[in-house]
Amino acid sequence: MIMIPDEKKEEVRQAADIVDVVSDHVKLRRSGSNFTGLCPFHNEKTPSFSVSPKLGIYKCFGCGEGGDVFNFVMKTDGVGFEEAVRTLADRYHITIPEKEQEVYDPRQHLKDGIYHALRFAGNFYHQMLAESDEAETVRAYLKKREYPWKTVRKYGLGFAPDSYDGLLKAAESAGVNLEYLHESGLVKAREKGGGYYDTFRNRLMFPIFNPSGKVIAFGGRTMSESKNTPKYINSPQTPVYNKSEVLYGIQIAKNEIRKAGEVILVEGYTDVISMHQAGIRNVVSTSGTSLTNGQVRIMKRYGDTLLMIFDADAAGMKAAVRGISVALEEGMGVRILSLPDNEDPDSYIRQFGSEGFLEVRKNETRDFLRFLAGMARKEGRWDDPVDRKKVLSEMLEAIAVVPDEISRQNYIQELSAISRIGDRALNQELDVLRTRIERQARRQSQRNVSPGGQGIRVSGTGGTYREKDVQNTAGRTEPGQPAPRPGSDRNGSESTGDRNVQPVHDEADRGAGRDRLSGMGSSSGRNERSPKRPFRRPEYEKELIRLMLTFGERLILFVGSHCNEDHFEDSLLRNLFMDIIQQYQKGEPVTVEAYSRREHPYPELIGEVVLERHAVSELGMKKRGVTIHKDSDPINTARGALKSLKLRFLERSREKLHDDFRDAAPERKSEIQDLIIKLTREQNRFQQEALQTLFPEEAYSDDNE
Ligand code: CTP
Ligand code: MN
Repeated sequence: MIMIPDEKKEEVRQAADIVDVVSDHVKLRRSGSNFTGLCPFHNEKTPSFSVSPKLGIYKCFGCGEGGDVFNFVMKTDGVGFEEAVRTLADRYHITIPEKEQEVYDPRQHLKDGIYHALRFAGNFYHQMLAESDEAETVRAYLKKREYPWKTVRKYGLGFAPDSYDGLLKAAESAGVNLEYLHESGLVKAREKGGGYYDTFRNRLMFPIFNPSGKVIAFGGRTMSESKNTPKYINSPQTPVYNKSEVLYGIQIAKNEIRKAGEVILVEGYTDVISMHQAGIRNVVSTSGTSLTNGQVRIMKRYGDTLLMIFDADAAGMKAAVRGISVALEEGMGVRILSLPDNEDPDSYIRQFGSEGFLEVRKNETRDFLRFLAGMARKEGRWDDPVDRKKVLSEMLEAIAVVPDEISRQNYIQELSAISRIGDRALNQELDVLRTRIERQARRQSQRNVSPGGQGIRVSGTGGTYREKDVQNTAGRTEPGQPAPRPGSDRNGSESTGDRNVQPVHDEADRGAGRDRLSGMGSSSGRNERSPKRPFRRPEYEKELIRLMLTFGERLILFVGSHCNEDHFEDSLLRNLFMDIIQQYQKGEPVTVEAYSRREHPYPELIGEVVLERHAVSELGMKKRGVTIHKDSDPINTARGALKSLKLRFLERSREKLHDDFRDAAPERKSEIQDLIIKLTREQNRFQQEALQTLFPEEAYSDDNE
């Protein structure tokens, strides 16, 4: 099946520098002839991850993950072997013959197929820009914007022709699988008559890359003067593109960030490119959305401080304020440079040159406290004592989310200097805020252990879905907005995301699975000590969802009566589970079709749940000439999955309790010990008893009485 000849593979292996590749995800330190760092595959605080450049391998002594450079790319990019080889070949400029048309295995190759389509499109657009006659005006436009060709090439800019099938036709004749082209968001399905049409037309194309240099999406700026066309359109969310975890320009900026220790964040594609052009190269942007935790965690792989550059208009200020607290919360140092109204770095540099920009940067950059104070002064809130009290509270709130104590104290000292209020008084206020934050965090973590707040709700009949539970759940989780969403779009073209409702195990955690949350100990709301496999949703969780969707009422009732949302570890699946129950309660259809028509992230998630498990095993079975028995007894299949779900849940609860025990006041210790004993009994019971006894089918009808 493998299309790449062995010699090519070896050539790529030779060329690829494993330290370089791993460094995209892990801060490595030299240690003898090896390198060590924090493992990207599980959560840890002391490094047990080791890379040997001599042997060309990596190994984690904590979780056991290990392999060669190909394995690493497969794991971190979530792709198959062949695609990993191609990624590295691209990166190290080795040419590999295009693959022949082949039948893709949907699970292994969904992402590969999309990457392939995106890569093709990137080359196509770039070539159009470089060579086509119709791009003449665009080339002139770029010249006017002072983008030399070298920069255009470096950022892979392109041009989407003004036609409904420019890309489509080219892809078709090159043998690119159109379904994957569609999955990648580059073409859309026609309303009538089947077939597709190009998403991006008459646009300057900005490919968006992941840190290792694969195209994952595009932004397109219109070249039309018409007021009816949106200025920018961007790729939709796809299995390889989650907007809230992506930084534009990271593939180029990452090494510069490492050197500088600082990330510069700007608002747009054009700003990144102009700054780079001006010699400031540690620059990335969020493509017009407000900063998310996931994005900050990506930054933190490469640097510790953040310089945010914002336009001084009201929207810019608001975005800056939100961004500040996200970055502080993730433990980054934060500075802000606000440019005059209506200027962005790109326009500023074009007017005043790079010297002018460096000048303004030197003079106008403020740490976040001085920035907030300055903003309050400008708004006249600093002079009035009542307003000023509010401003100070806001500043203290920003300080309070900083995870590490020493930094907090440094900020308090500075706030004291700015406000001329003694640090004792400030610290008193801070303590109040910290207590609140810690209490919230504890409540969060207890939700997983003892949702009712009284012991562990795990036995066969407790903790199940009854009418009441569903209502409670609905009350506390914002019905209709069940999943983490991308950050809000400053330009208002996308739904707003409130990062506070993002569940503990969010997508961002997964993508940036190597995040290390320093310092906050058990008080951090997202403190997860359990080793976590970052890139996979648990199979048994997916299986339960699949069964509910495939078999409808009987399985919804069965599964719903034997578990509740707290048992789900994966936040997206947890939200989906809750949503299924709610839909069912409302009498809405609960089917694969219904969810495929819903908003993001349902379609992708459902695809993952249904495709991976079902399609693949079906395929495998067919190969072996077996008809499918898998679903002949769905209740029993569900029992198996429920058992795994419960055992894993108990395991997580136990880890939490052990942590609590360690941090608990002496008088609480015996109480916790009792809980641990109870929990152990529960674990034994789940391990020993028969599935039918553990999960009887009539359970729900009793509960409904
Ligand atoms: N953006 C977006 N979607 C929109 C509008 C803007 O993704 N509908 C993002 C783009 O990344 C854009 C950034 O927000 O680069 C800033 O928008 P804007 O200031 O309008 O564009 P500029 O990049 O400054 O473009 P230009 O200089 O060509 O006007
Ligand atoms: Mn601009």
